[in-house]
Amino acid sequence: MVDPNDIVFDGWDISSLNLAEAMRRAEVLDWALQEQLWPHMEGLKPRPSIYIPEFIAANQEERADNVLTGTKAEQMAQIRQDIRDFKPPAGDKVIVLWTANTERFCDVQPGLNDTADNLLRAIESGSEVSPSTLFAVASILEGCTYINGSPQNTFVPGAVDLAIQRGVFIAGDDFKSGQTKLKSVLVDFLISSGIKPVSIVSYNHLGNNDGRNLSAPAQFHSKELSKSNVVDDMVQANAVLYGPEERPEHCVVIKYVPCVGDSKRAMDEYTSEIALGGTNTIVIHNVCEDSLLAFPIILDLVILAELCQRIRVGVEGEGEPQPLHSVLSLLGFLCKAPLVPEGAPVVNALFRQRAALENLFRACVGLPPQNHMQLEYKVQQPWGNAKHFCPPSKLAAAKKTAPHLNGCVCPLAKSKGHPDPHSPLAGVQN
Ligand SMILES: NC(=O)c1ccc[n+]([C@@H]2O[C@H](COP(=O)([O-])OP(=O)(O)OC[C@H]3O[C@@H](n4cnc5c(N)ncnc54)[C@H](O)[C@@H]3O)[C@@H](O)[C@H]2O)c1
Repeated sequence: MVDPNDIVFDGWDISSLNLAEAMRRAEVLDWALQEQLWPHMEGLKPRPSIYIPEFIAANQEERADNVLTGTKAEQMAQIRQDIRDFKPPAGDKVIVLWTANTERFCDVQPGLNDTADNLLRAIESGSEVSPSTLFAVASILEGCTYINGSPQNTFVPGAVDLAIQRGVFIAGDDFKSGQTKLKSVLVDFLISSGIKPVSIVSYNHLGNNDGRNLSAPAQFHSKELSKSNVVDDMVQANAVLYGPEERPEHCVVIKYVPCVGDSKRAMDEYTSEIALGGTNTIVIHNVCEDSLLAFPIILDLVILAELCQRIRVGVEGEGEPQPLHSVLSLLGFLCKAPLVPEGAPVVNALFRQRAALENLFRACVGLPPQNHMQLEYKVQQPWGNAKHFCPPSKLAAAKKTAPHLNGCVCPLAKSKGHPDPHSPLAGVQN
């Protein structure tokens, strides 16, 4: 994997503050750490970005002093030029990741953004296209992987179509950092244990600029949708607990409370049915430190995306191995609402997502997938690795009759070539 220290950063922001000033305004890092970082950050100034006020909350307007002008097509052309200017000549890769404000959802309409051609036409004609989608299209046209860390539907069908046509990776949506990450573990645990969640109520309050932006209804709605579907696959996979149309009640509330700053409070109540009409209730209070949970995910997404670009998959004798699908669903491990290729199952359960990544990387180094069955430790077979167990009565009798076999006279002890060199049976013959 790429060493994080070898990554070179550049970026855009509608706010002109250099990164040192932005760090001070965000009030996330301790002051002593800010002082150490200041000299490294003050020279980094964001490039002007695409600002279409109707897509983010009105309360963000006062920050927007670093914006591109011109038509949508001209602004997108500038973003493409920025990517080319940044691209180092040595063939290094550029990966573009959206971690700007949550936008409202974009209308998905036939003729507007349902195909790659229609989307490109919509950009030329200045029709409704969100800034994050303009960035996605610019990135795809430049052949650069594009990752969406926010909840909105940046990847309208036309953007997905374009990525597939051009063979460029896209991944998203919305970083899975705090409350949802816990949910994608806890609900899997409950359902897998035969405990049936019937209601999940998730309440958040936060006081950073993300919270301020999400206090507007349209932007909150994007986040609400992204957070809501996270239990669907686990529910649908268990036809014993849930009927075909049955789902737990799932309610998500987000409130802006400036006082708590970046220390987002996430409070969840999971109510489940258990045996004999009983009820199990789990209540969680999670202080999330929002940004500090999110930024390592940004690094991981970029590092994993780069690695995935180097993987080829094929069947021996059936042509050249091919890259992974353009919709890089493997990165769903780090995303609240995993984007998957059309027709592919959506997996939200965290450890299943992790197993997919782990097994892919095992395959890359020639190891079989880890299936946790460990059958070799669960049988009393000559090919097994479990230590052979002799009942004490048999052992005592055997010690008298065949002391050279260390007390064991079962058929197992007589097997040749036992696979485990540490087994007490190893090397025992006859
Ligand atoms: N734990 C987390 O922090 C977390 C988790 C999941 C998702 N997210 C998502 O990540 C995104 C960023 O969160 P944040 O807390 O860093 O928010 P933030 O408000 O602190 O930072 C967003 C930045 O984007 C800039 N911006 C807005 N529109 C822009 C545009 N069109 N082009 C370029 N820059 C633009 C803003 O000026 C601001 O500096 C949000 O969508 C949030 O929902 C964050």
